[in-house]
Amino acid sequence: MSIYDILIFFLGILFLVGVAATPSPPASPCSAANASMSFTLRPLDLQNCFSLQSLVTPSRYPYVTADGEVFLTRDPADSAQQTNLYNVGRISYIGPLELRDQNGLVRSFSTFFVFNITTFTKYNESGDGIAFVVTTDRAPPENSTGRFLGLMPEKASDRHEQFMAVEFDTFQNLQPEILDPSASHIGIDISSLSSVKPYLNTSDPSHPLYLYNNYTISAWVSYDSSTHLIQVWATNRTYLQRPRDPILSVSRNLSQLFENFSDIYVGITAASGNNSQATILYSWNFTVGEFQIHHSSPRLPLLWSILLAAISAIVLFTAAIFAVRMIVRRRRRALIEQESISAIRVVSRFVQRYRYSELMHATHNFSDNRKIGKGAYSIVYKGTLRDGTILAIKRMRKGLVEADVIAREVQIISRIKHRNLLELEGWCYERGEALLVYQYMERGSLDRYLHGDRSATDSQELHGEIRYKIITGVAAALEYLHFGLTECVLHRDVKAANVLLTDTMEAKLGDFGLARLINRDEMVTITTAGTPGYVAPEIVHAGRVTEKADVYSFGVLAMEIACGRRAIDPSNMICSRLSDWVWLHHQRGSITEALDPAILHPPSGPALRGDRDVSELQELEKWQCVLHLGLLCCQEDSDARPDMSQVHQALRSQTVLPPPSSWALYSIRSSGTATRSDATFAPCSESSSLLSLSYSSLHVRQLPSFRA
Ligand SMILES: *[C@@H]1O[C@H](CO)[C@@H](O)[C@H](O)[C@H]1NC(C)=O
Ligand SMILES: *[C@@H]1O[C@H](CO)[C@@H](O)[C@H](O)[C@H]1NC(C)=O
Ligand SMILES: *[C@@H]1O[C@H](CO)[C@@H](O)[C@H](O)[C@H]1NC(C)=O
Ligand SMILES: *[C@@H]1O[C@H](CO)[C@@H](O)[C@H](O)[C@H]1NC(C)=O
Ligand SMILES: *[C@@H]1O[C@H](CO)[C@@H](O)[C@H](O)[C@H]1NC(C)=O
Ligand SMILES: *[C@@H]1O[C@H](CO)[C@@H](O)[C@H](O)[C@H]1NC(C)=O
Ligand SMILES: *[C@@H]1O[C@H](CO)[C@@H](O)[C@H](O)[C@H]1NC(C)=O
Ligand SMILES: *[C@@H]1O[C@H](CO)[C@@H](O)[C@H](O)[C@H]1NC(C)=O
Ligand SMILES: *[C@@H]1O[C@H](CO)[C@@H](O)[C@H](O)[C@H]1NC(C)=O
Ligand SMILES: *[C@@H]1O[C@H](CO)[C@@H](O)[C@H](O)[C@H]1NC(C)=O
Ligand SMILES: *[C@@H]1O[C@H](CO)[C@@H](O)[C@H](O)[C@H]1NC(C)=O
Repeated sequence: MSIYDILIFFLGILFLVGVAATPSPPASPCSAANASMSFTLRPLDLQNCFSLQSLVTPSRYPYVTADGEVFLTRDPADSAQQTNLYNVGRISYIGPLELRDQNGLVRSFSTFFVFNITTFTKYNESGDGIAFVVTTDRAPPENSTGRFLGLMPEKASDRHEQFMAVEFDTFQNLQPEILDPSASHIGIDISSLSSVKPYLNTSDPSHPLYLYNNYTISAWVSYDSSTHLIQVWATNRTYLQRPRDPILSVSRNLSQLFENFSDIYVGITAASGNNSQATILYSWNFTVGEFQIHHSSPRLPLLWSILLAAISAIVLFTAAIFAVRMIVRRRRRALIEQESISAIRVVSRFVQRYRYSELMHATHNFSDNRKIGKGAYSIVYKGTLRDGTILAIKRMRKGLVEADVIAREVQIISRIKHRNLLELEGWCYERGEALLVYQYMERGSLDRYLHGDRSATDSQELHGEIRYKIITGVAAALEYLHFGLTECVLHRDVKAANVLLTDTMEAKLGDFGLARLINRDEMVTITTAGTPGYVAPEIVHAGRVTEKADVYSFGVLAMEIACGRRAIDPSNMICSRLSDWVWLHHQRGSITEALDPAILHPPSGPALRGDRDVSELQELEKWQCVLHLGLLCCQEDSDARPDMSQVHQALRSQTVLPPPSSWALYSIRSSGTATRSDATFAPCSESSSLLSLSYSSLHVRQLPSFRA
């Protein structure tokens, strides 16, 4: 072994370490108006950013399921669909892409996609495969069904466009100009269906990329503009880590290939002939960007070489020790992977999956001084990733959820996107622990602003207009959860601590959908004990949970924001519930006196000079709307409560709805026998004998009725 061999080996190790440590660039949001440089396939962006194309009309395929899976070709199990054979299913970025640099040369790019081909026939008896394609063709060419994969027209002479495709081909085409090696092969196609050599023949059934084994395959393709190298990696493993070695590597100058065309599109295409196979695309992202080029190092003077060689020897020795440790560690990791394999199979397709070690590092081993919040079933930490990104990391109580439960839920949660909902950035399930990763909100929760120390400038910023915006924002978020999705998602833990604030003091409701992760009984107990005051009475009494329970909690929250008082005031037994307190003000005919004085008289707000009375009246009316809504939402009878779209509508139009005509005051309601009579006016006085009882114990103990 020469010195240079050692050197190269040493540099190789350094390079690999470097590559491993390089953080991936953040994906820029897909925007249809902007010839975006990067995109990720998300169901919500489908309409704006992607087009689904087929050759047969009408055609059910391609279509996208509620789970965001793109069925490209007819699923043979779909018995109702006898048509849709001989078809092409293609999903394309709406493009054209800005793929050229200022000199008109095709830039480097990389793509990643996950798909599954389910076959029902013997080898070679169904078809026809799937391909990633960079093409000058806006739509699949005519007559390109079946073995033409939506890439080429039937007659090669009819081709006018240029393309570069990476095909996963499941049919052996023995046409002389194509001559496929087998009915399971992977190849790079340049404006022809005959794959460039070398291709990969995977027709051995034990091959991890055998295409007749129903595998879910993750594939990476990259093009390097400086070397013109097209590389392909693929694996049947479900852990989304790119294998080290590419399966294909071909050099081709794409700038030259596309030189006579201005527009370039990218897509994923699949086709079927007489015998279809289900071709499902689970996820896809694409990035345009330069790669780090690894230059070979120039020759060094001899002395330096010797010195370096000596160092290398030491490093090598150390590396050997590390290697042994790594093997041991990798075995352990393999076990861990096995454990969560079912979870990963559902490959959370739209959110990043983090490694436990990464999150552990980001939070300094979940250290206490990184703790920013604590709930009944989770602890939230502030985490800083190696690339400096700051995240909020929610660590679920151990053993609370099973791997596949969380994987499924994460998938649902990650599809939920709304301006007023805190977006899930990623997740992790390892070592029996579930972690959810969110955007970090510098300003923290509304809770802190409402009830935290009010001396700071913070509280000044919570003037009336902002509060109203927050209430409306939360209402919009809940309306979306209840009505904007295919299924109604209950939040079940609406409270001030779950409302986070952006830099512009906009509300982002957090923790939505999590309720589904937690056993219902447990949830009821936890919420009752953990956040008294927000729980609708029917949950406490009957454990009955509907979206009206969220409406109840919202009502409490709205009044809390309006009054600047906590949902429960344990020092005030007669009307410890905020809603009762507001109701009593209403009974007295002075509901707006319940308002937080800071709303109408902001300490540093804009001075309301001449037209003060008018604005103040308008302001009062607006808040009367909020308080009435609050009362309506907190009615004992869940059916009488408005739904979230009515609430949101009323808030948007600032309509003052009539408050409920009757009210069951909590403290004077008999828990068993007495009728739910209209409450008579009861002054809010303190009842010292009950001071020590907490809200939840009140429910449990079923106190006898008493009248104030
Ligand atoms: C597209 O959006 C990105 C990020 O939002 C921006 O940097 C870029 O300049 C935009 N490109 C065009 C062509 O508008
Ligand atoms: C497509 O195929 C049909 C039937 O084989 C033929 O009539 C038609 O001309 C073809 N179209 C093209 C563009 O080749
Ligand atoms: C695959 O099917 C085609 C068409 O039926 C046939 O010509 C070819 O020989 C088959 N290949 C194998 C390996 O069975
Ligand atoms: C592909 O592999 C199969 C078996 O693994 C073999 O029979 C076939 O000849 C190979 N095809 C080519 C073109 O090498
Ligand atoms: C990948 O392929 C190998 C066969 O080569 C198989 O043993 C393994 O189970 C496959 N992995 C998955 C996740 O299907
Ligand atoms: C693939 O899945 C289909 C449908 O579940 C099944 O009929 C077929 O036998 C499976 N093939 C293999 C190789 O497991
Ligand atoms: C591939 O898809 C089929 C049908 O949707 C499914 O039954 C099978 O489990 C999937 N395979 C994997 C490895 O996820
Ligand atoms: C690649 O193609 C472009 C466009 O035809 C050409 O300008 C460039 O010189 C080519 N690069 C190489 C290395 O051949
Ligand atoms: C582009 O057009 C020119 C002129 O017609 C031709 O010479 C060249 O071969 C074309 N390039 C490709 C890649 O087809
Ligand atoms: C299409 O497939 C069916 C059964 O899968 C078979 O009966 C029929 O003959 C096939 N048709 C053609 C044109 O190959
Ligand atoms: C695409 O997804 C893979 C796997 O999740 C990830 O490693 C890569 O960074 C993503 N790329 C972009 C541009 O989002």
